[in-house]
Amino acid sequence: MKIGIDKIGFYAPHLYVDMNKLAAARNVEPEKFTIGIGQEKMAVAPITQDPVTLAANAALIILDEEDRAKIDFVIFGTESGIDNSKSGAVYVHRLLGLNPNARSVEVKQACYGATAGIQMAKGHIALNPDSRVLVLASDIARYGLNTAGEATQGAGAVAMVISADPKILALEDQSAYLTADIMDFWRPIYSDFAFVDGKFSNEQYVLFFKTVWEQYKTKTNLGLNDFEAICFHLPYTKIGLKALRTILEEASEESQERLLANYQSSTLYNRNVGNIYTGSLYLSLVSLLEQSEQFKSGSRIGLFSYGSGAVGEFFTGILQPNYQEYLYSEKHAELFASRTEVSIEEYEKMFQQTVPVDGSTAVFGSTNDPAPIQLKGIKDNMRQYENKTN
Ligand code: COA
Repeated sequence: MKIGIDKIGFYAPHLYVDMNKLAAARNVEPEKFTIGIGQEKMAVAPITQDPVTLAANAALIILDEEDRAKIDFVIFGTESGIDNSKSGAVYVHRLLGLNPNARSVEVKQACYGATAGIQMAKGHIALNPDSRVLVLASDIARYGLNTAGEATQGAGAVAMVISADPKILALEDQSAYLTADIMDFWRPIYSDFAFVDGKFSNEQYVLFFKTVWEQYKTKTNLGLNDFEAICFHLPYTKIGLKALRTILEEASEESQERLLANYQSSTLYNRNVGNIYTGSLYLSLVSLLEQSEQFKSGSRIGLFSYGSGAVGEFFTGILQPNYQEYLYSEKHAELFASRTEVSIEEYEKMFQQTVPVDGSTAVFGSTNDPAPIQLKGIKDNMRQYENKTN
């Protein structure tokens, strides 16, 4: 039985910062951000968007009534969740009006959480072929103003329906994975901001990639020429290229050209949204599928997932016939086209506006947020959400 991605959509907040202007404000050469790091625009979340609303807005793009009835497992991958006990999946389940007979959980392992979610979903569908699983990857990446990590922030979510006989990508069974207890990036429960050893995390990312790639080749006897494209976890778009370059010589000249060209397509959306942690790899997959010419059915796509701390995995999928008909390219194009730029001053102000943590009531009155699902405030320590489509 084929199991894999039946639907995939993403959502990003409607506001962004131009990286050239951020560079000017931080006295950095713009090329450092646009070439050295490889980012053009960085999505900024208004107070009315949090990881729950971002995920619910992403899912709203892809779900129909049949999905709502058949989804019996909601898996929410995040590393910036809003509660240390209750899962974001339960909120999304209610906001989307899903079938009550469902399991709903949150999965955490830095940017790897949603990949664990996909593997769990695969197992669930193998046992329950008629059901569907909603896998969400949603985060707001915050390193702090004036920090080295500031240029690698962003906000957004990816939603995927995993099912039998998927219309887009059938996941293959072989995959290679690795865990090592390292301190390259972490966020203690008491901290709003992540701690990161940036250079070390870059080194470990590449090392994990090379290790799981070698393991994958040994397990499968496949090589780089067998791949149409490889998508990477992209905290910033330059990093995947660094990893790809370490193995590129294993491919024929023709394959090298193909892989490099497809790498560019797989980074376009990420370049314009920024880092969305758990969703970054899957945003890259959406970008590849929507921004490339149609690939042949049967083409193999590689996916490298990395979650600091750290867990890495290399897994693969096979593109299904006419997969392009099932993408949400137009909706995503509209989303990009309707965004509004904010100045650095406005971004800094928004960055500092946070949900009260002292039990006081807050109402986030009229904002210009066009998102259908929003955080309207907080009362008695309970976040108040609204789905305007209800
Ligand atoms: N033109 C072109 N490139 C330039 C440049 C210019 N004017 N100025 C600098 N650069 C390049 C640097 O050479 C470097 O490229 P390289 O990595 O290929 O050598 C790149 O821009 C970044 O410069 P660097 O000095 O390393 O930046 P930094 O010390 O400010 O930190 C990160 C960059 C990514 C380490 C930092 O943003 C960070 O900590 N991010 C969060 C952690 C993260 O995303 N980790 C990823 C693994 S999950």
